[in-house]
Amino acid sequence: MTLWGGRFINESHELFKKFNTSLSFDYVLAEEDIIASIAWSKTLMKSGILTKKEQMTIESALLLLLREIKDKTQNIISSNCEDIHSWVEEKLINKIGKLGKKLHTGRSRNDQITTDLRLWCRSKIYILLENIIDLQKHFVLSAESNYNIIMPGYTHLQRAQPITFSYWCLAYVEMLRRDASRLEDVLKRLNVSPLGSGALSGTAWNINREELALSMGFDSATNNALDSVSDRDYIIELLSSASISMMHLSRFSEDLIFFNSGEADFIELSDLITSGSSLMPQKKNPDALELIRAKCGRVHGSLMSILVILKSLPLSYNKDMQEDKEGLFDAIKTWNDCLCIAMLVLKNIKIKNKSCRKAAEEGYSNATEIADYLVKKGVPFREAHNISGQLVLRAITEKKSLNNLELSIFKIYSNLIEDDIYQNITLEACLEKRISQGGVAPSQVYEEIIKAKKRLNIF
Ligand code: ARG
Repeated sequence: MTLWGGRFINESHELFKKFNTSLSFDYVLAEEDIIASIAWSKTLMKSGILTKKEQMTIESALLLLLREIKDKTQNIISSNCEDIHSWVEEKLINKIGKLGKKLHTGRSRNDQITTDLRLWCRSKIYILLENIIDLQKHFVLSAESNYNIIMPGYTHLQRAQPITFSYWCLAYVEMLRRDASRLEDVLKRLNVSPLGSGALSGTAWNINREELALSMGFDSATNNALDSVSDRDYIIELLSSASISMMHLSRFSEDLIFFNSGEADFIELSDLITSGSSLMPQKKNPDALELIRAKCGRVHGSLMSILVILKSLPLSYNKDMQEDKEGLFDAIKTWNDCLCIAMLVLKNIKIKNKSCRKAAEEGYSNATEIADYLVKKGVPFREAHNISGQLVLRAITEKKSLNNLELSIFKIYSNLIEDDIYQNITLEACLEKRISQGGVAPSQVYEEIIKAKKRLNIF
């Protein structure tokens, strides 16, 4: 069914029809389009455009349609309608005849599509928020069950200072908390109803848009129709949140890919999320993590795409905006999938306590402690740093760790160093000293785990 017959003499070209249609991807909005159409029919009734009986007939036919397509939305694409709005309207007219043609009174596909999209985004945000919270729970539980496993912390991918696996987990909890709070923020501006904006300047029928908005669970109605049909800020905001969160997941993946490498050998990934090589029998590849790392790129691509589509686009609706959907749908699915896979990875991870500790011991990651030790004895930090650096060089030449240098060697570099140096530079001492807020001290980490468990309702 075309929606504009009267004005045209000729049919559109087949090639153009295919190029113009969005049904092959906007079919996913079927449920939202039906829900918004029911709400619209009630508004039309309240304004006297439909009788009570007519509204009820329309509503039951739409509800029937909703039931018919439940879990079968994919079937919609076999129709040759231009988009999901014309598909729903056509099905309605097939069911109830001429009366179905009244539904579009005062409405435009321009306000319809952005209403459907907002409803769709809202329902996805709820699911995403749940998954982000679940992933946080997985990190907290992993932090708890692997408490006290010491490993090297890195800067520049060089062993820097010792940390614990729990502490590493809690770093990701913080990132995910911010991701969730960003999503909640998106929701505030997204949950406003554009329905009743018409094509671009509002509707000439006397309708109560505020009441209509509330009936669909929106917080309020938008203020300016011209803006309402042009605005896709909520998609940009949602894709920005997706991009930031995917960036976090890609860093998580990269960390674990490195931890899993033969060179680090800190963890073992489960068979559930790894694959083998067709040629080299010894290999166990971290495919799940590599895919998360790469899928981040495609989500960033969707964000770039919508930004570029909207840049310099004149008000109000332009068909360019039909291109907002595929990237959005793909990015949201990708983000959700990656959150679920990240949970699977984390749940089945095995930490190799001994090799983590060995790496922490080997990397001179306690050199800062020697400097701090000297500072406590009155040496200015810059000088202390230099002495500690010389000791590291000496230890490297002797192929020893700092803990294994003899006291006489320490003394060559500073007379202030005494026998108590050894207890000051154990891995445990390095950790325990960092007790200030946000530090790696096990007591501090323990408190953070307890706080996170409370916040996330983990009992
Ligand atoms: N399929 C269109 C889209 O996704 C719906 C709005 C069409 N509006 C119009 N004036 N052609 O953007």
